[in-house]
Amino acid sequence: MSNRRKFLKSTVFGGLAVSTASVSSFACAPKSPVKKPVVVSTWNHGMEANAEAWKVLEKGGRAVDAVEKGVMVTEADPNNTTVGIGGFPDRDGKVTLDACIMDEYENCGSVAFLQDIKHPISVARKVMDDTPHVMLVGEGAKKFALDSGFQEENLLTEKSEKAWKNWLKNQDYKPKINVENHDTIGMVALDENGNLSGACTTSGAAWKMHGRVGDSPIIGAGLYVDNEIGAATATGLGEFVIKICGAHMIVELMRQGLTPMEACQAAVERIIKKYPNNYKELQVGFLALSKTGEYGAYGIHKGFNYAVKANDQDELIDAGSYTG
Ligand code: GLY
Repeated sequence: MSNRRKFLKSTVFGGLAVSTASVSSFACAPKSPVKKPVVVSTWNHGMEANAEAWKVLEKGGRAVDAVEKGVMVTEADPNNTTVGIGGFPDRDGKVTLDACIMDEYENCGSVAFLQDIKHPISVARKVMDDTPHVMLVGEGAKKFALDSGFQEENLLTEKSEKAWKNWLKNQDYKPKINVENHDTIGMVALDENGNLSGACTTSGAAWKMHGRVGDSPIIGAGLYVDNEIGAATATGLGEFVIKICGAHMIVELMRQGLTPMEACQAAVERIIKKYPNNYKELQVGFLALSKTGEYGAYGIHKGFNYAVKANDQDELIDAGSYTG
């Protein structure tokens, strides 16, 4: 390890205990930089999403187009109960969606608390491309989507409605780790031209209060891209990602010399340090990609995984975790 890296660890982290031994022992970070292009995304559903993103990347397309197309696969899957159509509703039986996107110029667009539109990521893209704003929410976001040509549709599937009616019997709000907060697809990519972009989309925590917005549409929390340094995204219980500005923190730590894996671990350990009475009951996972194509991920609990696609690589990898 360089003297610079040692210095950063002792000064940046202080009591966070990111030891050299713990960060070097995970198998999930590649030994040498992955060749461009590369796309990484959260959870098992990332495999299918990456395959779609790859169609853009392999032709030399822009990372921002790849991540939009990639996460649209997950949004369109009615059997996925945490993203897009089929997402579990809130307590009032309403499916409300959050999404954001960020490109290599650090342009960004976001929608939150959007109802009845299947592809919130594409509405977020339009906010980025066609408006002077970054974020539209609720009725305003829906009106913008309809005015832009998106179709209104019912996103509450029979399966999700049944699950909601079942939940109503006890109305116990305690998200199950890696199940009801196995929520988001976050995807970050590096294209052939060496440019980074990211996208993040979710139906949020199941049985949330009506009006609740998580980290996924918040630039700097659920997603952040700095084309000089790297990109990061988050999954899990959004309240705790927002509280530490997770994705932005990770990119800033990468700027200071940490690897994607080390930076994700530091962000998880920040949550643990600040919320020692909460972390055992919740899952948060971070995934990051550097400008050189190095990637890494880390979660509070075991069970968080991520999908990687690059030339000669297409796999699902278990992230390192704090609780073992
Ligand atoms: N990470 C997604 C959410 O909390 O809504």
